Amino acid sequence: MPGLHHALNAPVMLPDDTTVVGQGLAEAAWIEVIQRMDEVYGELVASQETLETKHRELVEAHHFTEGVLAAMSDVLVVCDTVGKVRQVNRAMLQLTGRPESELVGCELAEMVHDQQARQQIASLLAAGRSDVQDVEIALPRQQGEPVPVTWNVSPLYDGEGRYSGFVAVGRPIGELKRAYAQLQAAHQALKSAQAQLVQAEKMASLGRLVAGVAHELNNPISFVLGNAHAMERYAGKLTRYLHAIHSHDLSAADQALRIELKIDRLITDLPSLCAGLMEGAERSGHIVDALKRFSAVEENTRQRVDLADLTQRAVHWVSRAAPFRVDISSQGLDAPVWVCGSANQLQQVLVNLLQNAFDAIEKTPAPALQLSLALPTDPADNMVGLTVHDNGPGISDEALPLIFDPFFTTKPVGKGTGLGLSISYGIVERHGGQLSAENHPAGGACFSLLLPAFKD
Ligand SMILES: Nc1ncnc2c1ncn2[C@@H]1O[C@H](COP(=O)(O)OP(=O)(O)OP(=O)(O)O)[C@@H](O)[C@H]1O
Ligand SMILES: [Mg+2]
Repeated sequence: MPGLHHALNAPVMLPDDTTVVGQGLAEAAWIEVIQRMDEVYGELVASQETLETKHRELVEAHHFTEGVLAAMSDVLVVCDTVGKVRQVNRAMLQLTGRPESELVGCELAEMVHDQQARQQIASLLAAGRSDVQDVEIALPRQQGEPVPVTWNVSPLYDGEGRYSGFVAVGRPIGELKRAYAQLQAAHQALKSAQAQLVQAEKMASLGRLVAGVAHELNNPISFVLGNAHAMERYAGKLTRYLHAIHSHDLSAADQALRIELKIDRLITDLPSLCAGLMEGAERSGHIVDALKRFSAVEENTRQRVDLADLTQRAVHWVSRAAPFRVDISSQGLDAPVWVCGSANQLQQVLVNLLQNAFDAIEKTPAPALQLSLALPTDPADNMVGLTVHDNGPGISDEALPLIFDPFFTTKPVGKGTGLGLSISYGIVERHGGQLSAENHPAGGACFSLLLPAFKD
């Protein structure tokens, strides 16, 4: 206050001889001093008021900021340039379950436990003044598993524009991840249900088609077969007759005709021709039978059947017919396991699965088969499960989606019709079960058969 300073410190000059004049001057000086003091006081009061208003505004702004930070559901961490925590919000305290006094002042890297997260924080610090987005770092909690959090980090500057640290805002995504995993699982289940539906529908329409074809083929094949039998008999008789005639001397013309028509070769060829005809007709008959079974509308599929016994019998039959030895290990086949179904049809499924497995391991150096029969584990669906795992070459990725299709076979002509699995699939479906195939992680193919357990 230059005015006041001047008034208080300036020497008052009073002339010695003129007392009245001097008194008047002194009074004027004092009045000036008082006036100045008044002015200064007024200024002080005004400044005080402004200061108080500013202080109130500052407190309000502070409350506002605190309120906003507290209301944030995202977690917020403010750090200095070396990554020491300066401030955290309420969401951060709630998420970590730790008090503010523990968090503020500690190094950001100390908050996490695993090495990978520490490295991520180190690279965040190294990134310095640049914005970093969507970095996932899990935050450990006082209780429970660490929570995955995605972080966005922005640099922080002070009033003079100097870099003073960074602000990290994180969004806990544990719930989101769980929901995503559930969604993924539901999507997967839906996809496989859809695939099964498509497969079931495909099988049903193929069944109708095949039933028609089988019906059409049935008659011609049975008369070819019947005639072939008759032909075989006739050929036998004719051969006998010709042998009888040839034992006598023939006229020159007859002998010439015999040679011209190659009658002797014909007689030799006749049995194999007939056998070929019979075999072809019989094989066609089997195919038609299989086609009929494929499309068969069910007989009784509600009998009580011992799947363990059925499996053992199928193993016995198939291994007896195999020209090589197989190391067979089994689990759960010693005691009866009751399922609900038709013994004949299930037998057919098992024989086909085992025959396929034997075919697959034919060229394996140490052919082995693992059978495992398990009682229902989930009382809700009450399914008995059988797995047949061989150590063959497995099923190629191209073949895997096709193996249940009728006539799909990789076996040489005459060895497989490609109907086994499609018929088995239909049978298992009609039993309310499931038949599926996969390649086993340890190698070889693994077929799983699920069938409803028998309930009294
Ligand atoms: N255990 C297995 N290992 C590898 N491939 C298999 C196995 N089981 C089945 N397959 C594949 O699935 C195809 C179809 O099998 P499916 O039983 O339907 O017909 P098939 O055995 O070829 O002929 P069929 O059973 O009519 O004699 C087989 O040709 C084979 O390629
Ligand atoms: Mg087969």
